[in-house]
Amino acid sequence: MVECQRYKHDVLVIGAGGAGLRAAIEAANAGVSVGLICKSLLGKAHTVMAEGGVAAALANVDDRDSWKVHFADTMRGGQYVNNWRMAEIHAKEAPDRVRELEAWGAVFDRTKDGKILQRNFGGHKYPRLAHVGDRTGLEIIRTLQDHAIYLGIDVHMEFTTVSLLKDGQRVIGVFGYDRERGRFKLFQAKAVVFATGGIGKAYRITSNSWESTGDGHALAYQAGAELIDMEFVQFHPTGMVWPPSVQGILVTEGVRGEGGILRNREGKRFMFDDIPDIYKNQTADNEEEGWRYTQGDKNARRPPELLTRDHVARCIVREIKEGRGSPHGGVFLDIAWIKERIPNSAEHIKRKLPSMYHQFKQLADIDITKEAMEIGPTTHYIMGGIRVNADTQMSTLPGFFAAGECAAGINGANRLGGNSLSDIIVFGKRAGEYAAKFAKEAGEGTIDEKEVDDIAKRVLEPFDRSSGENPFQIQRDLQVAMQDLVGIVRTQKEMLTALEKIEELKERTKKISITGNREYNPSWHTTLDLNNLLIVSEAITRSALERKESRGGHFRDDYPKKDEVFSKCNIVSSKGFDGKMQIVNVPIPEMPPELKQVIEENK
Ligand code: FUM
Repeated sequence: MVECQRYKHDVLVIGAGGAGLRAAIEAANAGVSVGLICKSLLGKAHTVMAEGGVAAALANVDDRDSWKVHFADTMRGGQYVNNWRMAEIHAKEAPDRVRELEAWGAVFDRTKDGKILQRNFGGHKYPRLAHVGDRTGLEIIRTLQDHAIYLGIDVHMEFTTVSLLKDGQRVIGVFGYDRERGRFKLFQAKAVVFATGGIGKAYRITSNSWESTGDGHALAYQAGAELIDMEFVQFHPTGMVWPPSVQGILVTEGVRGEGGILRNREGKRFMFDDIPDIYKNQTADNEEEGWRYTQGDKNARRPPELLTRDHVARCIVREIKEGRGSPHGGVFLDIAWIKERIPNSAEHIKRKLPSMYHQFKQLADIDITKEAMEIGPTTHYIMGGIRVNADTQMSTLPGFFAAGECAAGINGANRLGGNSLSDIIVFGKRAGEYAAKFAKEAGEGTIDEKEVDDIAKRVLEPFDRSSGENPFQIQRDLQVAMQDLVGIVRTQKEMLTALEKIEELKERTKKISITGNREYNPSWHTTLDLNNLLIVSEAITRSALERKESRGGHFRDDYPKKDEVFSKCNIVSSKGFDGKMQIVNVPIPEMPPELKQVIEENK
């Protein structure tokens, strides 16, 4: 039997970003024992990259806002392939979850009369994003972390999960290793919640950091859970492009929410050129009106820079491809121009966007109060993930729950900015609540010791080869292939080439050789991450090939229009009995009449 340290919890949460922390808090409040695992250090999570705000219809800045408008905006943003029940729950519960954060100590920016301030963001009809300057995700993590520690939750840091453990179909724990010493650990639990975040590291240009290797998506798939909507990857329109070492780092949408505008190298505000029909009555057709909107004029329409992310990213790519880009291959994002409109604009920008000011000053030697930034799209988020029940967040495997970015449904084909922070607190809470309920009713499962031995053997295999492939090179080759062949604009030909490449990289991965020992060995970590990245890349590519239309974050040059057939289905990826990936279209359940009416009323 392999040597490993063993732990037992009623509920085990993997991932300590906002969704994981919120799930752990809820489970602990339900009176069960909780373990919380992070791949990195507690507090370091992609949640901090949702900078500009958390979307909730508090109606503090515009009293016309309500859960109904938020629901309708989310469905329109997701181009109606969202799980409507999740979108409904999310819109209804987000305000309470934000107020709860405030009660736990989150210090939001305030309106003049002392309410939580809300700002404009793309695709949201009214100013809806409660924020803390441009550090909202960071403040949410800080608040949840303090609360979790106060509740006495057991935290296991720097741990990589390499496999789910099952008893029959039921999930009963995880196996993995601590990254520092390389020692194996086995966690047994009555219910397991995955809140493992995203897949950004499958792409060359990303706002995500090293942890985002699709672990949750891939391990769930390997264990037999279903993945859904994997073709929908979000390319945030504004990431840094220069210098090369910082390419992809997020430039918050809050810049545009505060009046920032996009220009090409000719100085033209190109977003006015291409306003889709569905947004024509909501989007300003002149600069003056767009500016008034960002300043809270209730009668003005939003500027075209605040169209949904998928659309803005494609317009930027068009400008670059057609030779109107900036010197380093992006376009210009300008907030400095507001000096024409408001006194003390430099102080105003530094107060509203402090991180952006420091980020550009320190990393690119640009003073954003005086000069335009150079930006371009960056892989930011995946709408697809583990298929879950809308109310309970349980996956298709008993005892296995998922929340946050690794779960799917709420966002459909495209997520609105700010809906990720509300998603993680609404569905993190629900996942914790229902996992605790499941744990109270379930007995302990039985660990299959032979299975554990087999996993440990497989994980150590690369140490046995004296020569072979380099994991960093394979990871780089994958990132380049996904960026070039399954990126913002896709074609069948390129995606078939990507599939061939993925198969070739899988073979090369089997030949990786690692030197050194198990103590903090980055080559070993990367090798294990690679298995996950290859699975998510295959699921993205196969799902994208299957969806023969363009919708939201998925744009196909060979099928540039929406297709009625695909408006009624989601694409599900799962592991077949032969070990190969199966892709099937599943119909979206009919929306109840009262929700259809909400959408109709808010068209
Ligand atoms: O632009 C941003 O601040 C990102 C927000 C989000 O992804 O929700």
